[in-house]
Amino acid sequence: MCAAPLRRRRLVQALGLAALPGAGMTGAAPARRARVTIRLSHVVARQTPKGLALEHFRERVQALSQGEIEVLIYPNSLLYGDEDEMQALQLGAVDMLAPSLSKFGPIGFPEFELFDLPFMFDAAEQVHRTMQGAVGQELLGLLARQRLLGLGYLDNGFKHMSANRPLLGPEDFVGLRVRIQSSRVIAHQMRALGAKPVVLSFGETRRALAAGVVDGTENPVSNFWTQRMHEAQTDLSLTSHGYLGYAIVVHQQFWQYLEPADRALVEQALAESLAWGNAIAQRENDEALAALRASGATRIHTLDAVQRQRLRHATRGVHETLAARIGADWLRRMRGAAASAA
Ligand code: LMR
Repeated sequence: MCAAPLRRRRLVQALGLAALPGAGMTGAAPARRARVTIRLSHVVARQTPKGLALEHFRERVQALSQGEIEVLIYPNSLLYGDEDEMQALQLGAVDMLAPSLSKFGPIGFPEFELFDLPFMFDAAEQVHRTMQGAVGQELLGLLARQRLLGLGYLDNGFKHMSANRPLLGPEDFVGLRVRIQSSRVIAHQMRALGAKPVVLSFGETRRALAAGVVDGTENPVSNFWTQRMHEAQTDLSLTSHGYLGYAIVVHQQFWQYLEPADRALVEQALAESLAWGNAIAQRENDEALAALRASGATRIHTLDAVQRQRLRHATRGVHETLAARIGADWLRRMRGAAASAA
């Protein structure tokens, strides 16, 4: 399981990437004609909502800057994975990240776990309105505590549960070891269902499922399908119990290195690409589900309203526990924002 970080370290060495703030901005790759290079690392496949939106961003930056600014994308945990990408950003070894909102808790932003709360949202539009509203923008503003800058939100979609059995009610989860992201809210959600949460980086998940290290996991279908998790899971239950999205982050030092005109250009390209990405995210998840069905590899279960209500009921205590950690006002405001965005 340590092969991936080793591979990444070798790649860093091979590329000659220096761990200095802004090191990728000028002269890092003299063979290229670009005046500025932005290195962007992420953990998922290209053919996912995030992979495609970031590719769109690369193309828009290229076009708007007429090749003067280049975006180098390292997908699939190739350069950094969940365990080291935030540190790489802080050190300037990479310039831009798009981590899931669930990954901000461990680095000191537990407020982002509001987005992880089970059954908080019913539709992507509701999530978008909440993100664009006061609560969503205030959450991005918190990142300044660590000299990070949140440039916007990006969708994946609603998560579903997989295992080697159907997961239709709380009793089905009892005793399962379930891979989760590093979010205390998600850990609590799994414990509330009787499962044992196991935090693993995304890049290790498929292997851990195949090896039987964990029995199940949760993710939107686009991630499930593109990581070939279906080869290691006989059942996918369409629980839509929680949302998975991303924040685009840079370090303030990197942002200040950019000339004002370049900053404006990057902001424009990003705004276009996030809107584009949010518009195609649902389609990508639908297509992944259709491909999964066609493969016949995994049984797909749809939950009825009563079954979803039982899962909701079993996990309702998770909301109050987060409120005790981050302050009841955050939960009250998030619930209010979600209700008025519905
Ligand atoms: C996960 O770790 O399951 C996801 O955050 C991966 C991703 O970036 O979509």
